[in-house]
Order: sequence, then structure tokens, then C-alpha cells
Amino acid sequence: MAPPSFFLYTIMTFLSFYGITAVDYQVINDAATTPGGIRFNNEIGICKAKQIMATANSFILYAIFQEVYPSDQKAIDLVNLYIEEIKFPLTITWGNNNINFSSIHLAEFKGDLQREFMANMYHEMTHVLQWPGDAKTPPGLIEGIAEYTKLKANLTQPGFAKPGEGDHWHQGYDVTARFLEYCDEITPGFVAKLNKMMRFRFEFNYFKDLTGKPVYQLWLDYKVKYGKCCS
Ligand SMILES: *[C@@H]1O[C@H](CO)[C@@H](O)[C@H](O)[C@H]1NC(C)=O
Ligand SMILES: *[C@@H]1O[C@H](CO)[C@@H](O)[C@H](O)[C@H]1NC(C)=O
Ligand SMILES: [Zn+2]
Repeated sequence: MAPPSFFLYTIMTFLSFYGITAVDYQVINDAATTPGGIRFNNEIGICKAKQIMATANSFILYAIFQEVYPSDQKAIDLVNLYIEEIKFPLTITWGNNNINFSSIHLAEFKGDLQREFMANMYHEMTHVLQWPGDAKTPPGLIEGIAEYTKLKANLTQPGFAKPGEGDHWHQGYDVTARFLEYCDEITPGFVAKLNKMMRFRFEFNYFKDLTGKPVYQLWLDYKVKYGKCCS
């Protein structure tokens, strides 16, 4: 009899053969004749961009959200990336599955462009794949989860908050990402579990359900741990 791993592999092959777990990526360079669009083609290119999106997709689904089964995942079968000559925002996710990336940022960025592109794509791909809760979800938490992916993928950019920094747990971005990392220490897999709970709605009580402590207390514990309380 075949070992279980072979059995699993057969099922996964079956699923991908029928397209159940497959995601397509489309990259549209609308700024191909501008300095940023040209730099994109020279230093990243469409093929590499698609590979980065596919790698981000697996990292987010499996490592960050621990959504092993397609039934746990958002049903996304196509992600479009548009390189646009727009200065702000640098990057944005819109609709269900579209990402815009500023060619002006690509032109002006100084340093390793591929790494900068990856950092932003891991953030935006998190928005494509995360469960949004409902209208009660603080936007700072949505953004914090996206930066948490960046942190876990070792793609943080200069100036990223250090542990203990910030004024509120829902301040967003890097501040909230560091706080979520602390919540993971209290309850292993915290972010994956929280995301799962946010499939249909959001409750502040999720923090207490997962850690035994209300979120404001977790934030104070976190500040005290890093000697940043009342300073
Ligand atoms: C994103 O790009 C699309 C496609 O060109 C465009 O229609 C849309 O206005 C852009 N959205 C933002 C927020 O920049
Ligand atoms: C990030 O870096 C840490 C420390 O060097 C390492 O343990 C970890 O495996 C890296 N993670 C990824 C996703 O590359
Ligand atoms: Zn964002």
C-alpha cells in the first residue's frame, strides 16, 4: 500500500489538475513608456512579477493563514497587477483581485527594486487573500495583518516599528504588525486563528476568545513587556 504522503500528493495533483487550487496572474504595464515602467521591465519584468505573486500567495495561505484546504480560502482564481503612472497611493488593492502599483515609485526608489517590489506585493496580496470581517473591523487591523505578512517574510523596509512602539493596537501597519507578533507569543497561530474568525464578521472579543485577555489589556501588557508604558 502506498504511504499516506503519496495518497495526499495524488489528491493535490488531482485538485490542481481540475484547477481547484490554481490561481492565474496577469501583469499589465500601463506605464511601459515611462521611466518607472521601463525600470519595471528591466529590473523585475512580467515573468518575475508573476513568480513573486505566486510565491506570496502560497506563503500567505499556508504560512500566515494556515488555510490548508481550498474551502478555508477565499475563492480567488485570478489576480491582476496594473503598473500605473499614479503617484499616490504607491500601491493599492481594489475590487476583489486587482492591485495597482505606482510606476512613479518604481522610478524614484533607491536601492534593491526587486526587494521593494516584493515587500509591497506581499502586503497587497495579503489584502487579496485575508478575510475582511465586516464594517466593524478597524482598518488598522486590516493594514496590520498585511504588514505582519511582510514582517514574517523578512521584507520589512527601513523605519519599520520596533517591538513595543506605537500608541494604539489598531494604529495600523507596522505598529499593529508588531502587536500581532506579540499576540502570537501568547497564543501560537494567533493571526491565522483571528483571520479565520474574521471570515464573516469582526468582534473585539475575538482577542479575548483567543488569549483570555481583552485587547486593551493585551496592549498594556505588550507595552510593559518592552518598557514602553506611560513614556
Ligand atoms: C487602478 O488602475 C486601474 C486600471 O488602469 C484604474 O482604472 C484605476 O482608476 C486605478 N485605481 C487607483 C485607485 O489608482
Ligand atoms: C527570516 O529570517 C529569520 C532569521 O534570520 C529566519 O529564521 C526565517 O526563516 C526567515 N523567514 C523567511 C520566510 O525567510
Ligand atoms: Zn494595505
